[in-house]
Amino acid sequence: MTYFYTVFSEIYNSKYEKLNQFTQHKNSTSYTHSFYVAMQAYKYARRKNINCNLRSLIRGSLLHDYYIFNSDNSKNKGHLRNHPKKALISAKKDYELNSLEEEMILHHMWPYTFFKFPKHKETWILIKYDKIVSLKEALRPKLAEHVTKAISECIKYIATSPNLTLSTL
Ligand SMILES: [Fe+2]
Ligand SMILES: [Fe+2]
Repeated sequence: MTYFYTVFSEIYNSKYEKLNQFTQHKNSTSYTHSFYVAMQAYKYARRKNINCNLRSLIRGSLLHDYYIFNSDNSKNKGHLRNHPKKALISAKKDYELNSLEEEMILHHMWPYTFFKFPKHKETWILIKYDKIVSLKEALRPKLAEHVTKAISECIKYIATSPNLTLSTL
């Protein structure tokens, strides 16, 4: 998981951590959800030896729901279709994204965003794991605890690695 932790260190800061204030799928937060989606997508690509841009796979997945989210706005009309655009706008304000990462964020809700057909395999991997993880989170209330532990391990690794920075921005 060393590579995953390294890429997480590029994204993580105290603002990113604020995603932990927003509930998703009843039992999780945008923070634990995004971390778990990114981790599962990364593990899948490694396991299957998929020739893809692993760095962007992790970054796009970590940022796919990067916006102010709570259960109230999930009930808003058009939320499923509209939130990828909001996530992209906020992510672009705080991070330099390449076109692949932009596509991943903008198209991750396909087929709800039917006319934004994804072109890259990284986006398809994200779409797959976003749906699998969302279902798991709704069905397994304890999953978030497990993910929180995995995040702590990751942060501990970053904090103790001489060549990585733990941004507290
Ligand atoms: Fe989403
Ligand atoms: Fe998501």
